[in-house]
Amino acid sequence: MRDLLHLAPLQSFTDFHFRNAFQAVLGDVNRFYAPYLKMAFDGSIKEGPKFDVLPQNNPFEKVVPQLMACSAAEFLIMANYLENIGYDEVNWNLGCPYPMVAKRDLGSGILNKPSKIISILDEVQKQTSIKIGIKMRMGYEDTSDILSILPALNNIDLSEIIIHARFGKQLYNGTCDLDRFGECIPLSKHQLIYNGDINSVADFRRLKKLFPSITQWMIGRGAISNPFIFEMIQDDSEELPDDFVIVFKEFLSLLLESYLHHSNNHGNILLKMCHYWEYFALNFQNGKKLNRIVKKSKSVSEYSNFIANLDSLI
Ligand SMILES: Cc1cc2nc3c(=O)[nH]c(=O)nc-3n(C[C@H](O)[C@H](O)[C@H](O)COP(=O)(O)O)c2cc1C
Repeated sequence: MRDLLHLAPLQSFTDFHFRNAFQAVLGDVNRFYAPYLKMAFDGSIKEGPKFDVLPQNNPFEKVVPQLMACSAAEFLIMANYLENIGYDEVNWNLGCPYPMVAKRDLGSGILNKPSKIISILDEVQKQTSIKIGIKMRMGYEDTSDILSILPALNNIDLSEIIIHARFGKQLYNGTCDLDRFGECIPLSKHQLIYNGDINSVADFRRLKKLFPSITQWMIGRGAISNPFIFEMIQDDSEELPDDFVIVFKEFLSLLLESYLHHSNNHGNILLKMCHYWEYFALNFQNGKKLNRIVKKSKSVSEYSNFIANLDSLI
């Protein structure tokens, strides 16, 4: 059986515009994780991520919503909302590394308090039947927290545990701690999913060789820079598909159309495209030049022309 590959949630990147354009023309992703919902200070759920997971914005299946909470009460408000709009599973974000978040016991900031994690899950599961998965780093200060968290989670009903093999304070720097990830495997009875720095087919092959018992993998930044990475991994090929320019152009057009359909702020949309191109450019030898052209686009029609002419520019 083929391994399962999932698209990681990346706030500001893997929104419904991206997920839908992706699903329309690209393939080989098993599940798409939406960036996290969180509470506003007035006790409501923040509007942006709430809009992102609305069923009408997600016509394709396979979307898993995520939430960030540091109490059972907040968790339940968001989980109940998600259940009411039709989701049967939610992912709990225990990975966000940013100090502003972490100091409030949110994201990876709660990883050095295993008993708090367990008591939130216990409390939540008494009051909802929605399936819960976790996406976590291996600790906050270092990667040791996970060694006590995983055994404690064995008594809790979870759909999966996705492990980004870094610790919180590392932010996105340094490398993943693969030795520690290896230590985690025998400690958990749950479905473990590996995440972190899969940027090429060669990276995937190396990790699969190290962890042959792992059958599910999550890819984030590597999939924004190369949306064909899932297909290439499944085909076990380091070559981009023959029709990649045609498909990539279709993908870019759909992404732009979706943004235009939902907003008439063309300046913002162009800025958004520049942010995507910071990643897309990495997949092209002359990426810097492409990036410069995108940055210089003064209108949506100029950017559309760039997409139309992409074949001649690469
Ligand atoms: C810009 C950005 C936004 C992210 N947003 C989220 C998020 O909303 N939820 C989450 O669990 N992780 C988030 N992450 C972490 C990624 O999902 C992933 O765990 C991390 O990038 C490591 O995987 P990768 O090396 O394949 O990118 C974000 C990462 C980046 C770079």
